[in-house]
Amino acid sequence: MKSLKLSREPAALPEPPPGDRPHPARRTLLSQLGIGVLIASAVGLANAFVRSLVPNVLYEPPRRFKIGSPERFPEGVTYLEDSRLFVVRDQNTFQAMSAVCTHLGCTVKMVTLNQSQTVEVRGQRFQEQREFHCPCHGSKYYGDGTNYAGPAPRPLERYRVEVMPDDGQLIVDVSQPVDRNYRLTV
Ligand code: FES
Repeated sequence: MKSLKLSREPAALPEPPPGDRPHPARRTLLSQLGIGVLIASAVGLANAFVRSLVPNVLYEPPRRFKIGSPERFPEGVTYLEDSRLFVVRDQNTFQAMSAVCTHLGCTVKMVTLNQSQTVEVRGQRFQEQREFHCPCHGSKYYGDGTNYAGPAPRPLERYRVEVMPDDGQLIVDVSQPVDRNYRLTV
């Protein structure tokens, strides 16, 4: 009778061939890469969380704003740099004209003429003492804002001007373009 010899030692696994064993340096690199990916994911999540707390609001300048009392404006043209507007006062009438060139949006400059000249725009003649010139590409506008030279496709915008009933200040509403003949009389 044959006796079977049982071994208590677990069978050892065969060693992988030397080429299949991960190099210790490669193992370290892989674990560092894993940690890097985890950190990047955590930062991305934190960033998304913080952004979700901030409302996604676009702040635009108001379309209707006060520019001061009529007495603030002397006869002629006053430039309001903050709002890029010319306020034109002719005795007790007021007009608000944009200083934004209708070509590509540069700010036009007022040029005072050495002597007044007669200009005819759409059948209306008027005496002109000033013009508006754009420094960017040479567009030129008559004193009433009508474009007559350069690439500007249309006149400077004019806006509605009103008087606040409670404090008597002038209000300009840039959401309401008006005709070139529009004037507020106070
Ligand atoms: S932006 Fe004024 S002419 Fe081009």
